[in-house]
Amino acid sequence: VTERSLLPVADPQRALVAGSIEVTQAFHRVIASGRYVHGEEHAAFENELAQYVGVRHCIGVACGTDALELALHAVGCQPGDEVLTAANCGAYASVAARNAGLRPRYADVDPETLCLSPSTIQAALGPGVRAAVVTHLYGRIADIDSIVTVCHERGIAVVEDCAQAIGARWKGRRAGSFGDAAAFSFYPTKNLAAVGDGGAVTTDVPKVADTVRRLRQYGWGEKYSITMPGGRNSRLDELQAAILRARLHHLDEHNDRRRRIVGQYAAALTPSAGRFVASPGADFVGHLAVLLAASDRAELRASLAEAGIGTDIHYPIADHRQPAWQDEYSQVRLPVTEDVVGRVLTVPCFPELTDDEVSWICEVLRAL
Ligand SMILES: Cc1ncc(COP(=O)(O)O)c(C=O)c1O
Repeated sequence: VTERSLLPVADPQRALVAGSIEVTQAFHRVIASGRYVHGEEHAAFENELAQYVGVRHCIGVACGTDALELALHAVGCQPGDEVLTAANCGAYASVAARNAGLRPRYADVDPETLCLSPSTIQAALGPGVRAAVVTHLYGRIADIDSIVTVCHERGIAVVEDCAQAIGARWKGRRAGSFGDAAAFSFYPTKNLAAVGDGGAVTTDVPKVADTVRRLRQYGWGEKYSITMPGGRNSRLDELQAAILRARLHHLDEHNDRRRRIVGQYAAALTPSAGRFVASPGADFVGHLAVLLAASDRAELRASLAEAGIGTDIHYPIADHRQPAWQDEYSQVRLPVTEDVVGRVLTVPCFPELTDDEVSWICEVLRAL
């Protein structure tokens, strides 16, 4: 079986085909409008996403990594400050923090959710920590209200990374409405996906919103008047905003479908092979179907490939072991993180999978 013929873990093209009428309409609307950056679609999308998340402010930016970086600036981080985060979430927070002149510091994760928890955060705190980035990994929301309490008691700001968890709920509120700020990505494989790059910051804090709004566009207060240093061009374009507006209408329905698919996988998997990192409730939106292998991941991967099912690893290298900076962290030990990095395995999950494909994957999982 060649790599190309395997069923992929995500398939943005199928989403585009399924929603082609809406996407084409959005495209024509934007072309006809004559405004290709920060026009009416963009303004409307910011309002609609803010309302969906349940916050007062949403600021479109160019990608999720920029959203993290600008959010860290906006919540008050200063060069040299430490940012506490998890090391099993793809290093996006590490990259953003380092680009902002901040120093990532790592906490271990909860063995059940693979997210930061109040206790793992408390165990890793130090006097230099100014902010925490909490990633709602694979679409499952962390114990975020308790985390915010623990951090705020110590004067630490919280940035939620909602790139994988848009729409997830916790105690009646959506991901992105708990922290001082939250970052979203609309990368083409995300639950709310652009046809290209895109991102956003949400917040209830007017000053945070104002800072991100200036920094995303050269530091301008008014056009051509730079009132804040450190600005850049990080805009979400009009075409992506129009497509995202159309797709936002289907988000809850697609999240339900994803959650159901992962639920079927979880029920099918032989317990001796491992377990899925998932939850049956609204706290999980099935961004990725990740199996935590009980023993040999390579063997499971080979069996799945043999059956025609593609897999991926999210993520294979812990942040503190990334070649670019591992020398700075040679003393750091994160037992749960280091263990799961060698055991996670992602199988296909996207709303456009057919029932037959889901049944087929379940059959293969049952036989593992
Ligand atoms: C958890 C998480 N954070 C941040 C990002 C970065 O988003 P982007 O690729 O839009 O910069 C991603 C995805 O790529 C992600 O999965």
